Amino acid sequence: MRITMIGAGYVGLVSGACFAEFGHDVIVLDKDPAKIEALQAGRIPIYEPGLEKLVADNVHDRRLHFTTDLAEAVGGAEAVFLAVGTPTRRGDGHADLTYVFAAAEEVARALTGPTVLVTKSTVPVGTGAQVREIVRRARPDLTIDVASNPEFLREGNAIGDFMRPDRVVIGVESERAEAVLKRLYRPLYLIETPVVATAIETAEMIKYAANAFLAMKITFINEVADLCEKVGADVHDVARGIGLDGRIGRKFLHPGPGYGGSCFPKDTLAFARTGQDYGRPLRLVEATVAVNEARKEAMAARVIEACGGDVAGKTIAVLGLTFKPETDDMRESPSLTVLPLLAAAGAKLAAFDPAMSEFARQSLPASVRYAGNALGAAEGADAVVLLTEWNEFRALSPQKLKAAMRGDVVLDLRNVWDPVAMREAGFRYHSIGRPKV
Ligand code: UDX
Repeated sequence: MRITMIGAGYVGLVSGACFAEFGHDVIVLDKDPAKIEALQAGRIPIYEPGLEKLVADNVHDRRLHFTTDLAEAVGGAEAVFLAVGTPTRRGDGHADLTYVFAAAEEVARALTGPTVLVTKSTVPVGTGAQVREIVRRARPDLTIDVASNPEFLREGNAIGDFMRPDRVVIGVESERAEAVLKRLYRPLYLIETPVVATAIETAEMIKYAANAFLAMKITFINEVADLCEKVGADVHDVARGIGLDGRIGRKFLHPGPGYGGSCFPKDTLAFARTGQDYGRPLRLVEATVAVNEARKEAMAARVIEACGGDVAGKTIAVLGLTFKPETDDMRESPSLTVLPLLAAAGAKLAAFDPAMSEFARQSLPASVRYAGNALGAAEGADAVVLLTEWNEFRALSPQKLKAAMRGDVVLDLRNVWDPVAMREAGFRYHSIGRPKV
């Protein structure tokens, strides 16, 4: 099938490459000529394991193409996907749909025949109906079926999530759109992936409800972890003990410094706003947003407390800056809250992240010293704070870490190290929701 992806951002690029891998003929369009030139030359603008090879293979096999030319991109397409950004609108927390609406109108004007216009961007309930109005006004002469096909992929695991999803959700209002989308995903029938075919509003709702539920699960276990510390319980055993109940499930019960990333913070906020707009407030989601924000600040306070109540003049080494491992994404990362608060309290900061980017440096206090590896960051530090659970930190020798440092305080905010081994290495070791050993 011939399809078009509008937007070569995270979702557009991964979905485009994966659809090509399914055997479809895919054109990915972006307005940014520099991005398209880079992609045509085989350079991938994002950090995602396996993506570079997937793109290169499919470009080589002539199933995947990149362009800035809209007419070329949509000509003959059986489906056109909108995968443009929906950032948080300044001031009110709503999703900003400017790009979605503009892209829908431009695509409609450029079409030369009927097609299915599918929204893949995460958009609030009711957006599909607005897109339908826009394309009908722009092209009353043409049959353009609108549809919704939310994407559930995770950064760092995006290709696996796309190729082996728990489910595919399609929101449709015509048999033709349903048939086209089902044909596109046919390769997944082999692995018996369930397809939820429903109304557009329902599909839009599913995406937000899923992300909000996962964010709520993380926030729940984070608060339970804090209480575990007070009562001497172990949060990992609690998570396992409740998660083995199939109604609860074991995933997304790992405590940490608060969720970040490009989706959960933005989507929970937008979902809460939608609830308020319709007079049906989503109070659990509102509480999740507030508790998670407060948690990031509480992490800085925790570091200061572990350092004896004062970090002025002390050197603190931070390991991991991205919102999670296997990505260079800094969006809404706890590091963006924790480091500035520590700097404001007078700490001297050193940091290391395996995916250190220029963008990360620009987003953090100018005074941070960046090291080339974990031990380099820890050199002469009074305290070490682990913020992101990159695998290489798990393998770090406690003895070597101790030898590099001046002090003996470690805050492991992802619980990657063994409390006994850390104590034996001579650390004053703090983790999340585990009893002191
Ligand atoms: C998320 C959703 O998982 C995905 O379905 C959706 O399409 C986009 O948003 P992503 O943001 O890439 O994906 O990362 P994810 O792995 O879900 O982690 C989100 C945040 O939650 C990270 O900051 C992570 O550290 C945190 N997290 C996750 C926890 O603190 N504990 C957990 O148990 C799981």
